[in-house]
Amino acid sequence: MMIDPPRTWDVFLRAAIILFVAWQVSGFSTSAEIFQEGKSDKEILDQLLQKERYDKRLLPPVPGTLTVNMSVLLLSLASPDESSLKYEVEFLLQQQWHDPRLQYSNASRYEFLNAIHHHNDVWLPDTYFIMHGDFKDPLIPVHFALRIFRNGTVNYLMRRHLILSCQGSLNIFPFDDPLCSFAMESISYEQTAVKYVWKYDEGTLRKSPSLKTLNAYLIKNATQACNTKSSWRGNYSCLRVELIFTRDRAFYFTTVFIPGIILVTSSFITFWLEWNAVPARVMIGVTTMLNFFTTSNGFRSTLPVVSNLTAMNVWDGVCMCFIYASLLEFVCVNYVGRKRPQHNVVYRPGENPVAQVRKKEPSHPIRVAKTIDVISRVVFPVAFFMFLIFFFIHYKAFS
Ligand SMILES: *[C@@H]1O[C@H](CO)[C@@H](O)[C@H](O)[C@H]1NC(C)=O
Ligand SMILES: *[C@@H]1O[C@H](CO)[C@@H](O)[C@H](O)[C@H]1NC(C)=O
Ligand SMILES: *[C@@H]1O[C@H](CO)[C@@H](O)[C@H](O)[C@H]1NC(C)=O
Ligand SMILES: *[C@@H]1O[C@H](CO)[C@@H](O)[C@H](O)[C@H]1NC(C)=O
Ligand SMILES: *[C@@H]1O[C@H](CO)[C@@H](O)[C@H](O)[C@H]1NC(C)=O
Repeated sequence: MMIDPPRTWDVFLRAAIILFVAWQVSGFSTSAEIFQEGKSDKEILDQLLQKERYDKRLLPPVPGTLTVNMSVLLLSLASPDESSLKYEVEFLLQQQWHDPRLQYSNASRYEFLNAIHHHNDVWLPDTYFIMHGDFKDPLIPVHFALRIFRNGTVNYLMRRHLILSCQGSLNIFPFDDPLCSFAMESISYEQTAVKYVWKYDEGTLRKSPSLKTLNAYLIKNATQACNTKSSWRGNYSCLRVELIFTRDRAFYFTTVFIPGIILVTSSFITFWLEWNAVPARVMIGVTTMLNFFTTSNGFRSTLPVVSNLTAMNVWDGVCMCFIYASLLEFVCVNYVGRKRPQHNVVYRPGENPVAQVRKKEPSHPIRVAKTIDVISRVVFPVAFFMFLIFFFIHYKAFS
């Protein structure tokens, strides 16, 4: 009997198709093969991330929006100098999300797969930083870690070093508290696709146990969602970190305020000297004034060159006035004391000069000079003390 040629071909064709399909299927290794003993985590990942299985361009297929949990671990905080508004912040940013395509069998001995060599093949959130400032390091060498857990949770850790330009109220410098902030947002996924949330379980902003700080005194921090009204892009999920620093008050007291107080009060010593002790009193006035200029200029050269250093200007200006005024007081006293007395007035050193002034008869010029000194001894220190109280309360030096 003749074989019907078309049917023979049909059988061959079917067999070929079955063989082809079988070959294709064997290309997707069964999970038993993937997780055989002795397979490395890299080989498992090679299998998991095969092109036919995994398309890294697609969002992880989770119901609803994909949630990326974020947390920040501070590694170092630094400022180039005491008076700067630039702060360098180095931290680890942890991002965690769920990618069901990356689940793997518990037959594997691996708790998690180390995917740093596959990071180009895995979907990663396209997080970027919104900030005023700069990145410290080039992105290479790349500092990151990428771990994939059995249940499909991906843990992506990266190190970032930012140089932030912070906001401070220079008008109350050095009693201001600079505020540094930066925000993280997805470049391309809108809120409906990817949502960033702070990971609340272990603190969203933590200090590393080995946190290093240099000239940076963190007093407060806040981790929050961005204020959508102030964001120009609107519909993107965005998280914001605020760091509030303070300045080292002790430093400013020891380098500026206490030397200033010492110089001003030294210039008051002149009131207790004789009205005609010209060399001594001139020397005190001129020395304290020169010293004050030197101290203040030396300190000023380290400050940012801006015009609104109101508190510092007030301090320097008022201290200068006090020192100059006490020098002028001496000039007056000396001038008055040298005036020729009216002929019927006699100088009696033992008398109380203040009581004498109230009498009708004209005072002897020397007595007037001494009276000015006596009044100055009270008025200058009291006025300076009141200024100190006003200054430190007004500029909230102790808050
Ligand atoms: C993200 O955090 C929420 C709670 O804050 C938690 O329920 C969820 O499992 C976390 N997701 C991942 C992928 O860790
Ligand atoms: C692995 O998962 C299977 C079910 O998926 C379960 O029966 C088995 O107990 C698990 N083995 C281990 C070691 O967790
Ligand atoms: C997945 O497993 C990791 C590690 O075991 C665990 O921390 C995480 O909470 C798990 N995530 C979910 C969504 O179960
Ligand atoms: C941030 O502030 C919270 C409470 O306000 C605090 O518990 C946490 O320790 C702070 N973090 C750092 C790094 O100071
Ligand atoms: C943001 O989303 C709302 C509704 O979800 C929509 O009406 C609005 O046009 C979106 N804005 C932008 C800028 O895409």
